[in-house]
Amino acid sequence: MPPFLPYGRQAVDDADVEATAAVLRSDWLTCGPEVEAFEREFAAAVGATHAVAVNSATAALHLAMVVAGVGPGSRVVTSPITFLASANAAAFVGATPDFADIDPVSATLDPAALAATWRPDTRAVVAVDYAGQSADLPALAAVARARGAVVIEDACHGVGGAFVHDERPWKLGGHPWADLTTFSFHPVKTMTTGEGGMLVTDDPEYARRARLLRSHGMERDPARLVGLGGAETGPWVYEMQELGWNYRITDLQCALGRSQLRRLPAFVARRREIVARYDDAFADLPWLQRPGLRSEADRPHISWHLYTVRLDFGALGRSRADVMAELRAAGVGSQVLYIPVHLQPWYRRTYGYAVGKCPRAEAFYAEALSLPLYPALTDADTDRVIAAVRALGPA
Ligand SMILES: Cc1ncc(COP(=O)(O)O)c(C=O)c1O
Repeated sequence: MPPFLPYGRQAVDDADVEATAAVLRSDWLTCGPEVEAFEREFAAAVGATHAVAVNSATAALHLAMVVAGVGPGSRVVTSPITFLASANAAAFVGATPDFADIDPVSATLDPAALAATWRPDTRAVVAVDYAGQSADLPALAAVARARGAVVIEDACHGVGGAFVHDERPWKLGGHPWADLTTFSFHPVKTMTTGEGGMLVTDDPEYARRARLLRSHGMERDPARLVGLGGAETGPWVYEMQELGWNYRITDLQCALGRSQLRRLPAFVARRREIVARYDDAFADLPWLQRPGLRSEADRPHISWHLYTVRLDFGALGRSRADVMAELRAAGVGSQVLYIPVHLQPWYRRTYGYAVGKCPRAEAFYAEALSLPLYPALTDADTDRVIAAVRALGPA
């Protein structure tokens, strides 16, 4: 039996191992020169002015909320088709996470639904780039900014990608329609640091505060010290002027991140090739909908994290669980991404959300299945995936 193909996995090579081992032999294990170099190189790669590395994208989303001034009394709208963290970050700061429905083609937040869901207390929008395809940032920013809200882009799925607007490509993290953008380096993502995340922004004050808050809010800049209540001063002095967290990432992780960043273009290119193979192979199946594109112009620029198809389980005559079991028996992993966040028990209980709140997202969830997508998949592996999927339907 050939090896099992999971729906996603990291691509770690000898250069990554060497880079990480070199840190283990050095003087610094945690926040040191590798963190700073990773931040610089990542900011340059995505076209952002500032990058703040943290120990997860969840931490990056939390810090984004804090520095943007989102707190109790605020409402934050996101898409239900996302990982829990995109919405949870609003709850961390005492704001109310809310949801607007998706555009059914791209499964990203629909600007018209956002406008329709708007309430006077809405202060921020979290636009999720589902599967790697960007949300319609220019349209979402137009809705949000006209109403005085901040745009946070959750680009955890889309590192290395771009979208086309006004006939030119704009990188995720490097365009003017988001105030803050977050990336994840969890191992199933397009590049990894084991666990880790990045917050990027062009706003120096957002970046400065995020950097401070990732390490307990400790201020050491002499120009910013307010005094501890005595006359004493010296090079050891640190002041906690705000309540922060330990969201620090390590030099070990950032050495891995720098090494992975060098291969990011190759990772993205291979993922695109696999998506093209799947798209060709599934074009004729009436019971399978391939990932939709909001604009064909985006196709050469998308950094795909997921290949999520929509299956007509009625036409196939069996449940999703049965289909997943059949694929598994053929050595092919699959995953359901995502259960709409507003239907999670905590969200129902805390905010009273219920089935019917976002019908298009709920319909998407009912049919969605993500197939294996990662750079180490060979053409022969993808042929196995294709054969197993085609075998689900009538011969
Ligand atoms: C869309 C989205 N946002 C946020 C996160 C949180 O990332 P992390 O696991 O790095 O905290 C993830 C990770 O699964 C994600 O997919």
